[in-house]
Amino acid sequence: MAPLIDPFARPISYLRVSVTDRCDFRCVYCMAENMTFLPKKELLTLEELDRLCSAFIRMGVEKLRITGGEPLVRRGIMTFFAAMGRHLDSGALKELTLTTNGSQLGRFAADLAAVGVRRVNVSLDTLDEEKFARVTRWGRLPQVLKGIDAAQAAGLRIKINAVALKGFNEDELFSLTEWCAARDIDLTWIEVMPMGDLGNENRLDQYWALSDLRARLAARYAVTDLPERTGGPARYVRLEETGQKIGFITPLSHNFCESCNRVRLTCTGELFMCLGQEDNADLRHPLRASEGDAAVEEAIRAAISRKPKGHDFDYSRQRADGQMSRHMSHTGG
Ligand code: GTP
Ligand code: 5AD
Ligand code: SF4
Repeated sequence: MAPLIDPFARPISYLRVSVTDRCDFRCVYCMAENMTFLPKKELLTLEELDRLCSAFIRMGVEKLRITGGEPLVRRGIMTFFAAMGRHLDSGALKELTLTTNGSQLGRFAADLAAVGVRRVNVSLDTLDEEKFARVTRWGRLPQVLKGIDAAQAAGLRIKINAVALKGFNEDELFSLTEWCAARDIDLTWIEVMPMGDLGNENRLDQYWALSDLRARLAARYAVTDLPERTGGPARYVRLEETGQKIGFITPLSHNFCESCNRVRLTCTGELFMCLGQEDNADLRHPLRASEGDAAVEEAIRAAISRKPKGHDFDYSRQRADGQMSRHMSHTGG
């Protein structure tokens, strides 16, 4: 089948799938404290998600990342992972992975490894228990650390995603770096994006540019830029003293849209062609309209043909331009 190519000649090979909008945490930059979650009947069933993902894989998707909310709180999720594992076995899918807050990894790490997951991205912004409870609103750090241990024991490679927050984790730049180096864990820093209902918060005040973070690292370590990419948005450097690779995801200070290879499917069957745009295509309707997949494939192709050039996030005018009212948990980051 012809591969998916967007209007800017970018091949689409990476599908991010949010399997639930729910989460057991409420990270301040991701969700409001009092979120209204979707009624369960609005969600695609796991069989429907399987049909959609399988269609994307037939159309050339090689990397599938399961996200949420928190993907591991969706009931029956391991059945879905096992179903996707069959595409790894056939060779059609090159990578099956997930982004998680780590709270349920103690329970699921071994099962994930058994179905073919090789690496897991865990969101962790601080190693301080009190700060962790504050940023997640009530999460417990020891539970997440135990989850990470369980995942490493199961042979899974771990990458920590830390959202860089001014005045919050600036002081942990070196401690988090050293903690990851000691455990052979990869670390990626992410610039905070202006998404979700802000309430009293202001993302611009929280914004800590990763160029500053890199300069601080360079004051302590010999930092070498690396050319390689993992198919995700991060750019990497190596710290020569520790041999460690550190990633930077810089949608604000250095836009990476020109090499975008991904689209996002939500748990209700909306396809978002860009994280930073509202336009989306409904796949649930064509999915439910017939048992065959022709209509779904056609809807996917039509959606890809309107993938925009990039997002409009911009803090350069000292305000959060391109702000999206949609919460990050809706599309899974
Ligand atoms: P790797 O496979 O490890 O490279 O993963 P990844 O970086 O693709 O996935 P992950 O779930 O770890 O995403 C990390 C952060 O990158 C999240 O905050 C995402 O929102 C952000 N991100 C991923 N893709 C895009 C994108 O296309 N645009 C923007 N603005 N942010 C993105
Ligand atoms: N800006 C940047 N990253 C965010 N994440 C959630 N909300 C935001 C935001 N507003 C991150 C999470 C997780 C990833 C999927 O997205 O920390 O690591
Ligand atoms: Fe949950 Fe992840 Fe959002 Fe935090 S960032 S509230 S852990 S979905």
